[in-house]
Amino acid sequence: MCGIFAIVNDLKGDAANTVLDGLKKLEYRGYDSWGIAIKPENTSRKREKLAVEKHIGKIGDAKTTLPSGKIAIGHTRWATHGGVTDDNAHPHLDCLGRLAVIHNGIVENYLNFKERLVKSGHRFSSETDTEVVAHIIEEKLKTIDLTTAVFDSFNELTGSNAIGVLDGESETIVACRNGSPLVVGVDENHHRFFLGSDVPAFLRYTNKVYFLEDNEGVVIDKQGVRLYDLKTKREKPLRLRRLDWNLEDAEKSGFPHFLIKEIHEQKQTIEKAAMTNQRIIGDVAKIIRENYKVVFIGCGSASYCALAGKYFFAKAGIETQTYGAYEYLPFSTFADDKTLVIAISQSGETADTLIALKQAKKNRAKICAVVNARGSTMERLADFIIPVGAGPEIAVVSTKAFTAQLISLYMLSMAVNNKVNQAMTDVKRFSNHLRKWLSVSLIDSIIEKSKSLMDMEHIYVIGKHLNFPGALEFALKLKESSYIHAEPFAAGELKHGVITLIQKDTPCFVLASIDEVKGEILSSAAELKARGGRIIGVAPFESDEFDCLIKTPDAGDLTFIYNIIVGQLLGYYLGVGRGADPDKPRNLAKSVTVK
Ligand code: G6P
Repeated sequence: MCGIFAIVNDLKGDAANTVLDGLKKLEYRGYDSWGIAIKPENTSRKREKLAVEKHIGKIGDAKTTLPSGKIAIGHTRWATHGGVTDDNAHPHLDCLGRLAVIHNGIVENYLNFKERLVKSGHRFSSETDTEVVAHIIEEKLKTIDLTTAVFDSFNELTGSNAIGVLDGESETIVACRNGSPLVVGVDENHHRFFLGSDVPAFLRYTNKVYFLEDNEGVVIDKQGVRLYDLKTKREKPLRLRRLDWNLEDAEKSGFPHFLIKEIHEQKQTIEKAAMTNQRIIGDVAKIIRENYKVVFIGCGSASYCALAGKYFFAKAGIETQTYGAYEYLPFSTFADDKTLVIAISQSGETADTLIALKQAKKNRAKICAVVNARGSTMERLADFIIPVGAGPEIAVVSTKAFTAQLISLYMLSMAVNNKVNQAMTDVKRFSNHLRKWLSVSLIDSIIEKSKSLMDMEHIYVIGKHLNFPGALEFALKLKESSYIHAEPFAAGELKHGVITLIQKDTPCFVLASIDEVKGEILSSAAELKARGGRIIGVAPFESDEFDCLIKTPDAGDLTFIYNIIVGQLLGYYLGVGRGADPDKPRNLAKSVTVK
């Protein structure tokens, strides 16, 4: 939630544009409003105020009118405290215009500070929790140096937060992390330095990075980056690492949107996820064989992946439990030293999943993180990390990370019974067919189908067994990308009330595989049809119950993943057709770092 980006020592003096471009890459983290602060150059006055530009709405093709300068900081916002207004957009300044503060998180105790600061004469121009930070630091700067003032102020905040502070006077950026992500980038020549909430912001300049840990802070000026422990204020060695991400990963590469690019990337990412983690999957499988109780948790798409994991493991003969991480706490009391909690997350930063994990860890459970982003908080909490390696996922709507996670859980379930080789063969076959099936003719038929659904208000999606989590994810893709109300149901639930919703011509997607419940799902399709429903089969077979069929390849237990990809494509083309922004759906943020 919220994107942070800053550059120090932009040699061409174009820091405002560099930050604007970086923010465009981070917009998936929040897009209510954006803003940049810069220290104008070509001024003889050290005390020259910072120049600031802030706007509500998406960055899109925005240009900046800010003056030239070598150091700037910017932010894209997902509103928490205070409405979506220019004033509430970050950065927020102190009274003197010397400091600019950007922030990701929630300062839970901000009201305690605000009252005191107002009484002592500080002027506030926004309703945000963030603005207090600028004034607290301003107050402390009367008696102590910048670094100590920022670190001490940050240590007084409660909640999960990351802040970046630009000090115009010393041309320094000080940033702190506790609970919300921050990463530093350093270019090859150690000339330019970057601060971001995510790597894509500066991937075009460098892939040499350092992910800050909780309770670490950095001080960045044109001499370089210094890393500190926020509690002791002692300097620590900065160990940069090189990521195997390249620029294309963060660009659209000829596709009109990241979402459709990422859907197509699944032709590679699914197989890659299966191939790269065999050793660690073997280690986790060993633990499971030692009679650990397995609990899957996740939020959003990741919770549906967790549910699919439960079916995979049932097929492997192992009973597991699944929770939306936001509902796990009452059950965390049952976690003990023979529990393995498998957390699924694209970002590794989702607040509810982290809270659930911390609770399980307190009860001595072992933690396995199935994550896509690197350097995340979840990785640090985990005993085992299964990095699914789908590369940066920029579209807010999850696609390639989700299917890479699904495949990782499939591999794990097969590994428990020493069937990794068979699983590998299954995945290779799956990916070979995917490369052929995800073709121009499939896209043409999806576009035709989307046209016929464009004006629908309600769509229903049913599935059974593995196609049930499939239906949940399918419907979520339609809702997120196109804003059409799409309701998923377990086929078995239909007769218990849901069927009242079906009227003449109501579109009903029926997700099916050639499996042990094929007959049952077709009976459900028939029941929907008898009430007037328009039945759209998504399956590897024809049936009289289907009014039309989007045919998917038969891949045994993995067929439901093809069925989900149909939902991804329909969501995308319906979204484009209905004028939504497929990469940045309204009200959503990619990484939900607040409770
Ligand atoms: C947000 C995203 C979803 C994602 C969920 C969980 O709601 O929009 O796509 O599934 O968060 O995020 P995580 O990073 O933990 O997978």
